[in-house]
Order: sequence, then C-alpha cells, then structure tokens
Amino acid sequence: MKNYKDLDIAHIKKNEYSGIYNESIKNNEKFWSKISKRIHWFKDWEKISNVDFSKGVINWFENGKLNVSYNCLDRHVENGNGDDIALIWEGNNPSEDKKFSYKELLVEVSKFSNVLKSKNVLKGDRVCIYMQMIPELAIAMLACSRIGAIHSIVFGAFSSNSLKDRINDSECKVVITQDTGVRGLKVDIPMKENVDKALLDCPTIEKVFVVKRTSSDIKMDKNRDLWWHEEMSNISKFCEPEWMDSEDPLFILYTSGSTGTPKGVLHTTGGYLVYASYTHEIVFDYHKNDIYWCTADIGWITGHSYIIYGPLSNSATTLMFEGVPNYPDFSRFWQIIEKHKVNIFYTAPTALRALMKEGNDFVKNTDRSSLKLLGSVGETIKKPEWDWYFEIVGEKKCPIVDTWWQTETGGILISPLATSDNFKAGSALKPFFGIEPVILDNNGNEIKENPAEGLLAIKKSWPGQMRTVYGNHQRFFDTYFSQFKGFYFTGDGAKRDKDGDYWITGRVDDVLNVSGHRLGTAEIEGAIGEHKNVAEAAVVGFPHEIKGQGIYAYVTLMTGVLPSKNIEEEIIKKVKIIIGPHANIDKIQFSKGLPKTRSGKIMRRILRNISENNINDLGDISTLADPSVVQSLIDGKK
Ligand code: WTA
Repeated sequence: MKNYKDLDIAHIKKNEYSGIYNESIKNNEKFWSKISKRIHWFKDWEKISNVDFSKGVINWFENGKLNVSYNCLDRHVENGNGDDIALIWEGNNPSEDKKFSYKELLVEVSKFSNVLKSKNVLKGDRVCIYMQMIPELAIAMLACSRIGAIHSIVFGAFSSNSLKDRINDSECKVVITQDTGVRGLKVDIPMKENVDKALLDCPTIEKVFVVKRTSSDIKMDKNRDLWWHEEMSNISKFCEPEWMDSEDPLFILYTSGSTGTPKGVLHTTGGYLVYASYTHEIVFDYHKNDIYWCTADIGWITGHSYIIYGPLSNSATTLMFEGVPNYPDFSRFWQIIEKHKVNIFYTAPTALRALMKEGNDFVKNTDRSSLKLLGSVGETIKKPEWDWYFEIVGEKKCPIVDTWWQTETGGILISPLATSDNFKAGSALKPFFGIEPVILDNNGNEIKENPAEGLLAIKKSWPGQMRTVYGNHQRFFDTYFSQFKGFYFTGDGAKRDKDGDYWITGRVDDVLNVSGHRLGTAEIEGAIGEHKNVAEAAVVGFPHEIKGQGIYAYVTLMTGVLPSKNIEEEIIKKVKIIIGPHANIDKIQFSKGLPKTRSGKIMRRILRNISENNINDLGDISTLADPSVVQSLIDGKK
C-alpha cells in the first residue's frame, strides 16, 4: 500500500476520512446537496430529502429533472470526451473483444431507444432483460433509462420458471434476450428457448427482441419476436432523452428475502445515480484514464451499480466480461488484466477461493503491474483469500477495499478507502460518507460502546436507498422498518471492534449467501416440495470451502416412500429447473421428521447447528413436540 500513502494520489487523502465523515453526518443535507452537483440536472431539485422511516417513505432531490443515459453518455460527449473508451467487452473466447467509445455507445443507445419507442414502449413501462454478458445488455439498459422505461434484469442463469414469475410480478411489456449464450465450455445456453417457455404464461408481453449472439437455430414467432439487428438497421441515431423526475423509477431488481417470493427492489433515478456515481469514484478511487473491471454479472446489483451506472456516469472505462474465471484456464482473470491493462479490479471472495486452490502459477505467469487497487464484494473476505489477493494478485502494492452493501442499498455503505491506514482482513472497516450504521441488540437498543456485537441497522437515509418493493409497499415497510423503529434493518449481523471498525458476521435471517448469490430458504423449500414424493423440507446453510455457504436440505418423504439416490438426484434436478442452476443443493438428508415446536413451527436453529456441526451446542430442545427427532437427525448427518 506504499504507493497510495506516499504518492498522495487518492481523491481522499490519508487522514482526511474522519473530517469529511464527521461533517457528512453533522451537516448531512448540506453534504448531499454538494455531492448531487456531480451529475447533470436538466432542472435543479427543490428539496434535498423527504424521509420518514416510520412510514417507509424515502424521497431525495425532490422535483429535480434528469436523465440517466444523458448523464452516462451525452454529457461526456458534450464535454469533449466522446472518443474515450466507455466499454471494453471481452468475449468468452479470448480472441473476441470489442470497444465502444462514448460517442459510439451513445449512437447504439439512441438507436435502440428509438426501436423501443417504435414498438410502443413508453415511459413507465417495464422491460424485462434476460441476457448473458454481451454489449447489447448494456445498450438495452441505457436505452430504457433514456426513454424512461423501467428495466427489470433477470440474471441469465435463472430458469424459465423464475423468469416467468419475475415478468408477471412487474407486468413487463417486452423482453430483450439473445438466441443462445456462451459461457466457458457451454456454447449454447438456451436463452430464447427459456423465454419461449416462460411466455407460455405471461399475458402482458407484446414483443420479444432477440440479439443474434451465436446464430444457433432458434424459433421465432413472427407476430411477436423481432431480431435486434434488423430493428437497428434502419432507425434514427438521435433520440432526445426523456426528462425524468428524480423519484421516477429507474429499475426493478428481484432479490431473495427470508420469506415468500423474491422481492422487486425498486430504485429511482436521481438519488440512485448520485450515490452510484459518488461511491464508484471514491471507493475505487477512480481517476480519468483508469481501466476499471468489475467481474460481477449485470444480472445482480453489483453489475448495475458498478459495471454500468457508477462507472459510466463518471466517464470511466468499464470492462464487461462474458466468460468465466476458469476458461480456457484458471489464469483467465489475470490474462484479461494483462491484456487490457486493468488498474482497478473488483471481484468476489468465492471466485478468489476457487482460483487460489489452483496454485499461484496461474497468477504469476501474467503481468499484473497495471493494478493499483483491488475490491471485494458479496461476503466477508476472510484472511486466507485476503492474504492471497494482497500478496499474490496485488503483489503487496494494492489496497483491498472490502465493500459491504446490498441490492437494497443501491451502492456501497461500509468499506475501507484506498488510503485507510489500518486494513484488517475480514473487516469492511468504516462507513462511507453520509452513512450512519448502528449495532442493535435483539430488543432494538443501540449499543453505543465499543466493542459491540449485534444486528446491523442504518440510522439515516442515503440517496441510493431502495424506495419500495414493486407493487407491495407494505412488504417494504414490514421487511425493513417494522422490527426496529427508526432504523433501516439490513438482515445482517455485525461486530464493531475497539477501533470502531465493522466486521460483518453474515445474515441473521433465512437468506443464504451461496457463492455470493442470495437465495431464500423458503424459495428452495418450495421448489423441493414440488417433487411428488416429498412431504416436507427445511433448508439451511452450512460452511462450504468454495461457495462460502452451501445448501443443506432436510427432507421428509411421503409415508411409504423409501429414500434413494434416485429421489435425491431428482430433487436436486427439480430445484435447478425451478429456480436455476445456481440453486444447486449440496447435501440432502432424508429424515422421518423435522424438529418442530408443539405449535408446529420448525426450529431451524437446531437444523443449522446440526448442518454446521455444532452438535454440542444445540440449545434448549425441551420445547420440541418430539425431542427424539434431534438424535435421529444427528445420526443421519451428511
Ligand atoms: C452479503 C450484494 C460481508 C451480506 C452487493 C448482504 C457481504 C448480502 C459483503 C447482500 C461484504 C455483501 N462482507 N458480507 N463485503 N457484501 N455481503 O443483495 O450478507 O446480492 O446482506 O448485494 O451479501 O447481497 P446482495
């Protein structure tokens, strides 16, 4: 970390953090008012914020008018940076790549905006995007934002069933997809076919736009389906950006919660953009001409905020990668860094663990001297992978920013900065400017002294905060604001050490974090229950060497059905079909019964302790209807 400290190159210089932070909390409105000026407003906002957590009401930059695509494209072209590279696309195959300057990207986005308009997609309409990591995905998002349509991106690995549920929940008008997808050794991922299956049961969809990625043979419905390249071939290159209100919706992104179906997290225009833009510049210490690469998929929030909206609003060069870290071999990430001279690299601990176990040669055979800062997201980056990232990947000269945040928060809330002076492996260190985290005990009392351990909540609103659950404001309020009055509750546990640094301890609810992907136990249980022989299922997480958390399912079969390898495999397959291949159950334990209270509630704590091997610490089991179940579960442990 010598470079950063000695050269004084960072936006936030060493020792500046505390002063700026304290000021940002003390004069919070003044602080955000100043920061809001970093983006372009067609018309200035009138009131900085209007927030009431007791009702779940959150508004920022009221009555301001702006356009996200204008901020991400036109503005930079008008400022004379049109020839700078906006997007570097690296294909699955190392010989394939493409670059788009800001000028070029603006043309593509304007054209596709006109295509959407020509098919009657209007401001406020919902547009589902179901694609792999190809440039048209970025173009489609920005085109939606240009005309004021609300995009709802569904991660390209989701099943047709999950896609259908998401399309129907937000009543999308069109879907944008591709023929088939390419990822690693998979060369024909059936994207369009999945859309076709989903649309058997999606009455609101009028048109489907299909990008030709592989030229695989696919079926086109001539009344409904349109080829992207044909629609783009004869259309105007100019499209006036729509003036959007600061609080007009920008996108919906579905995420798993502890109960029920996935929630449509809604983010709006002004606050989200200000927050994504500012955090991207400060946390990654982005400077002009830096090449920035976030390895996330755009189907998740990290890709929305830190591949597209944050970087492009800062006129950065952002890299988008279609493939996987182990194709053609385990050095692919490092080869891409060498090839494109990447300066800032942002990835997830699960990827680091998978690469670390393949040995150092894959890394060392590449030239990573361009790197100056490394980032991590998705789960705590623990000491072994932190050390490896720091020493082997970054050659001890790059600070590591361990960024804690959520789909709901829109951007990073807790993270070190490049010039923090006491990096600790496993700690996200300090809150970002304007963010006031608190640690609560189980009764919702704030623990003020250090060290502290408890539930992580946030005291004040920030511009990037989600505004509602699409179509269900009550659920928004109930999930985040009803448990602890006056706070946004994150669902995570945390510790704060004697220096005031934060250590995230993981979810305290029934959300699993599998390879950095959020999965609700209720969703998985529902999918298992679809198997005809299953009477009941309960799902918990367990520590997994690569994935961070694995999926452990306790399954009770119908009376008279005997457990078998065959049923086990069928259940695993069924869940992957219903949710998607990332919902891959690691262990199934068949059991005659589940630990239930007399009122019939499954005591997950016991199941969790068994799957995590804390057998000596099962806690009080006297309230169980049948305590003998516990021993049989221990005996049958996988
Ligand atoms: C977890 C991803 C520890 C956390 C941006 C959170 C982390 C959930 C970190 C949100 C981190 C994310 N350290 N835990 N640096 N980053 N998490 O919505 O449990 O996909 O609540 O957003 O991931 O996952 P989501």
